[in-house]
Amino acid sequence: MKCKKCGGKAAINMRQHNMGLCKDDFLQWLPEQTQKFIEKYKMFTPDEKILVAVSGGKDSLALWDILRILGYQADGLYIALGIDEGFSYSAESQRLTEKFANEHDLNLHVVNIAADYGTDLPMLAKKTKRGRDKPCSTCGLVKRHEMNRLARDFGYDVLATGHNLDDEAATLFSNTLQWNGDYLIRQHPVLPSKDGLARKVKPLFHFYEREMAAYALLRGIEYIYDECPFAEGSTSTQYKELLNQLENQHPGAKMHFFVKFLTAKKKGLFAEPTTEIVPELHICPTCGQPTSAQENCSFCRMMKKSSEW
Ligand code: AMP
Ligand code: FES
Ligand code: ZN
Repeated sequence: MKCKKCGGKAAINMRQHNMGLCKDDFLQWLPEQTQKFIEKYKMFTPDEKILVAVSGGKDSLALWDILRILGYQADGLYIALGIDEGFSYSAESQRLTEKFANEHDLNLHVVNIAADYGTDLPMLAKKTKRGRDKPCSTCGLVKRHEMNRLARDFGYDVLATGHNLDDEAATLFSNTLQWNGDYLIRQHPVLPSKDGLARKVKPLFHFYEREMAAYALLRGIEYIYDECPFAEGSTSTQYKELLNQLENQHPGAKMHFFVKFLTAKKKGLFAEPTTEIVPELHICPTCGQPTSAQENCSFCRMMKKSSEW
């Protein structure tokens, strides 16, 4: 396979684009494409302050690297969850995130859940019984809450996450299997800021997971290879495997599934209903963040329950 740009030896073959690229051209192509999608979807401008949520995995470290190369003002946020079952997942991902920040002289905020709230994530999930077997739903709630809190408290214009196309396609698949209309309406690479919630963007939504892994490897970024120990056997992992089987038979299927969903939505397929089904947001009296609950938000209710344990 030859590089489509220079005719040299291709380092990666992207069957969905019918295109192979050599290392140098791929490392140039990926940030250029990212810039194209940032502009096309009006994610942010060079004078806005970006907070990148960095997990220590390949996607979010690559995203931070790309935004840096493209010249954006992007600081990082690492949320230390205290997931150290079997091996030091959280400690190791924090080490790699800090290493990347130091190497490139980047500003990193670290939030430590156990230090700030008195309980690490696995214990919090046990105490509040939100996740009966796995703490993943508690984890999602904690991460969303803390990301928005930091973005608000430090005055960032926008919050960026490293979700790639495989993540988005698996989420879309899950929402479609359940015809989860509320989620389908909201699933988009850009969510505008609303009622105290920061604007959220996913600049890597158009890239396959294997492309992001290739980018991180070819750039020499050291990232955590292991998945979170609680992710094993999750439905989203199963959906990703299913979509990859389809992709093997029909290159581009995964990309079309998600990108054509965005086009269909733009054409009005999932138009907002004329009657208001989206709940009104109130301000949580404890943390001051927006919530659809009448009293405390679900995060603060969980923390209260945990403290009474
Ligand atoms: P996940 O939900 O683990 O698939 O991660 C999706 C995105 O959320 C990542 O690409 C990061 O941008 C962000 N993220 C996940 N875990 C963390 C963490 N511990 N700290 C900061 N950001 C995170
Ligand atoms: Fe949150 Fe695995 S990263 S439970
Ligand atoms: Zn080339």
